[in-house]
Amino acid sequence: MVKSSYEFTSKMKRRERTFRAAGGLFSKDKVAKSTSLLVDQINPTPGDRILDYGCGYGAVGVALADAVPDLDVQMVDSDIRAVRFSQGNVKANNASDAHVVLDHTLDRFRNGYFNIVALNPPVEEGTETIFEMIERAQSKMRHGGQFFLVAKVRRGAKSYMRKLGEIIGPAKVVKRSGGYWVMRSERSSVCPPEAVDLSRYEHTVEAVLRGRKYRFRTRAGIFSRKDIDQGTRLLIETIDVRPRHSIIDVGCGYGPIGMVAAHLASVGRVVMVDCNARAVEYASQNIQSHHLNHARKNGKPRVEAVLGDRFDAVPGERFDRVLSNPPFHAGNDVLFPLVDEAHGHLRIHGRLYLVLMRYAGVKRHMQKVFGNVSVAADDGKYVVLTSERTF
Ligand SMILES: C[S@@+](CC[C@H](N)C(=O)[O-])C[C@H]1O[C@@H](n2cnc3c(N)ncnc32)[C@H](O)[C@@H]1O
Repeated sequence: MVKSSYEFTSKMKRRERTFRAAGGLFSKDKVAKSTSLLVDQINPTPGDRILDYGCGYGAVGVALADAVPDLDVQMVDSDIRAVRFSQGNVKANNASDAHVVLDHTLDRFRNGYFNIVALNPPVEEGTETIFEMIERAQSKMRHGGQFFLVAKVRRGAKSYMRKLGEIIGPAKVVKRSGGYWVMRSERSSVCPPEAVDLSRYEHTVEAVLRGRKYRFRTRAGIFSRKDIDQGTRLLIETIDVRPRHSIIDVGCGYGPIGMVAAHLASVGRVVMVDCNARAVEYASQNIQSHHLNHARKNGKPRVEAVLGDRFDAVPGERFDRVLSNPPFHAGNDVLFPLVDEAHGHLRIHGRLYLVLMRYAGVKRHMQKVFGNVSVAADDGKYVVLTSERTF
């Protein structure tokens, strides 16, 4: 059964709270053990300024916001879906001291703003992303402020602890439970306020795709930051795109698929969409650096990168091609709606192309929705599936 959202309750800080979340968000159908362990260790006092860093659907921020009066809880995430669910959960739980912001830099906060930072890190995005988050948070913390981080011992806890010790100040484990460590580090006055050069989290990917050379800028936290992913490359080599086509790349990352599409559809329109603000920023930079940002088509940019959840940034717009390398571990509650909405956003005779590793369920669903599906390419690891809109 594919569900568009989940509702569940959890008792934290002695109060029962109700949350809503959806496929694609961390721990979409229950408050994770790591989350409640983290919340339990944080005991704010009135007047505290708290950063819930990478807030997801907002369990930490909501639970802390009314633990004591007069808090300023800033819940920050780079994913538009997380921000929307957090806003809903803040409202539903009357967490009036909590504020939700879409952000991936923390630049909006002045140095020394927070005295508590809570991080349940996005481990699936890799160590580099989490190190960058720790470094970004450092200068935003007051001297003597406390940084709380929860992680599994088998999934990097020791390396995060070392990084906290290096960047924030002395760190110790304050709770061990079920393979998790909650650690706390106090911002030391001997750490310089801006000790870090964040440019080392930026990367360049160079590639020849469909006979053309590309140089993409990308960053920790964006999919396949060191090279073009094998599935992405297979999709790019397979797609049939004509000069006048109008195309959407759903889940564009830093933009390799959309950028190649923009060259193949040399007088068409290309929209690249991602739910992550960091990905959209880099896709936009890459559009500019490849000089694709100037032309317009029917009153809209010919090539653009926009923030959105699947197709919600392009209401009513129809395309000749929907292209996607969807998130790796996406379940059917992410993939099936993508197929359904793709059908609605294609012109008659338009085509959907999806690249996947495990695909049996999606293939059946494409057959059901479109009435046809075929394997356009198969390299033994990845498969490109395609369906044509015929009705
Ligand atoms: C496997 S990566 C592909 C990135 C890029 N197209 C490439 O091939 O290198 C999937 C991307 O989809 C984005 N994503 C996941 N769910 C999304 C959604 N509901 N709407 C828009 N983008 C989404 C992720 O942020 C991620 O950048």
